[in-house]
Amino acid sequence: MSLLRKKDVSVMMDMKQHSKLARHLSGFDLILLGIGAIIGTGIFVLTGTGALYAGPALPISFIISAIVCALAALCYAEFSSMIPVSGSVYTYTYATIGEVVAWIIGWCLILEYGLASSAVATGWSGYFQSLLAGFGLHLPTALTAAPGAVPGSETFFNLPAFLILMVITLLLSLGIKETKRVNNIMVLVKVAVVVLFIVVGIWYIEPGNYKPFAPFGMSGVLQASAIAFFAYLGFDAVTSAAEEVKNPGRNLPVGILGSLAIVTVLYVVVSAIMVGIVPFKQFEGVDSPVSLALKVAGQDWVAGFVDLGAIVGMTTVILVMTFGLVRLLFAMSRDGLLPKVFSDVNEKSHTPVKATWILGTIAGLIAGFVPLGTLAELINIGTLAAFSLISIAVIVLRRTRPDLKRAFKVPFVPVLPILSVLACIMLMFNLQPFTWIAFFIWTAIGLLLYFGYGRKRSKLHQ
Ligand code: ALA
Repeated sequence: MSLLRKKDVSVMMDMKQHSKLARHLSGFDLILLGIGAIIGTGIFVLTGTGALYAGPALPISFIISAIVCALAALCYAEFSSMIPVSGSVYTYTYATIGEVVAWIIGWCLILEYGLASSAVATGWSGYFQSLLAGFGLHLPTALTAAPGAVPGSETFFNLPAFLILMVITLLLSLGIKETKRVNNIMVLVKVAVVVLFIVVGIWYIEPGNYKPFAPFGMSGVLQASAIAFFAYLGFDAVTSAAEEVKNPGRNLPVGILGSLAIVTVLYVVVSAIMVGIVPFKQFEGVDSPVSLALKVAGQDWVAGFVDLGAIVGMTTVILVMTFGLVRLLFAMSRDGLLPKVFSDVNEKSHTPVKATWILGTIAGLIAGFVPLGTLAELINIGTLAAFSLISIAVIVLRRTRPDLKRAFKVPFVPVLPILSVLACIMLMFNLQPFTWIAFFIWTAIGLLLYFGYGRKRSKLHQ
């Protein structure tokens, strides 16, 4: 039974009262934080691949993944309005299902946030190098990518990917106010670029490109929606900021649902315009599909802006994902499940500075040395596992703690959370066997760590 020991919600609320983290974020900041984490590689790099599967039906794929995410987002919103403490779904499962499940889920989220920041840094590096090349500047080949990332090329270390993570780590260690300011500006630039694409691109749609609408049928549309799913990841990272939010009961649901709604509209419109301008087969092998569409439309100068926007956009994704990673390990360490160094808060900046540097450096080294393309699926499986558990947790907590005050409630419980679990499982079964194996190995390592370290040192145990 000790495996399922639970943390008392009132103790957690008490912890929040005494939190040393500074509370500076409003609902608007959270929406920007969410958009910051969401719009990135998914729309700027991966939509081209999605179009190859779905054809002109690509916007439908984006709508399907948005529904899967919205179901999970509702569950996130209920929890965050009830237990506004750091650590996101890890903390929520700790209060509802029990310690060992919370640990596993935290372990899955480390996979999501940690690998996502490294993976997106790799995408950032690609765009950055092509920008440099525009000015005639080239890095030595050895420093352009991870070993083995480019077939037939002697690469050793992805220096730009490592450096961008170091810059972001520095920013995060300065404090939440500084982070927020930089993030807000970059998010506005990124959204402006997306809107610019819509406003310019819409005039160049060729209706003939929409026929046939779904050349590979429903299965193509679903495969593309597995890719589009990655494009939505990040809205859950909003909850990691819980302890740094003013009036969290109201503002957290606003941040989660608001950012997801805005991004869904943008994605559906952008993808519809892209496949309307470019015959979908031309996306083969293209890793900057949005600017390709503008070039086909003869708007090269706008394409240049979009490339710059993509760089800025991916920077904020790395920023918020790294932020989420640090706050998650902060919460796990505060509970005694990880070494104390991860929850030391610096008196001056009110942020976990040591944890920020340790994790930022590890993520930077992974981005530098590991070719991450194939690991994107691993990020998806970790996230889908977390989404399923949060949905189950909503049902459990409605039964076990109906008394807790919920500023936001998921409608139609248990139907919607059950649909959410089923939708996640459906997407998980669309992933490769390799991903499942890697996921089981990762979970096994996590369990070894729990039984060897966390179980005895857990605050709840002591
Ligand atoms: N949603 C994030 C992106 O597309 C992970 O880059």
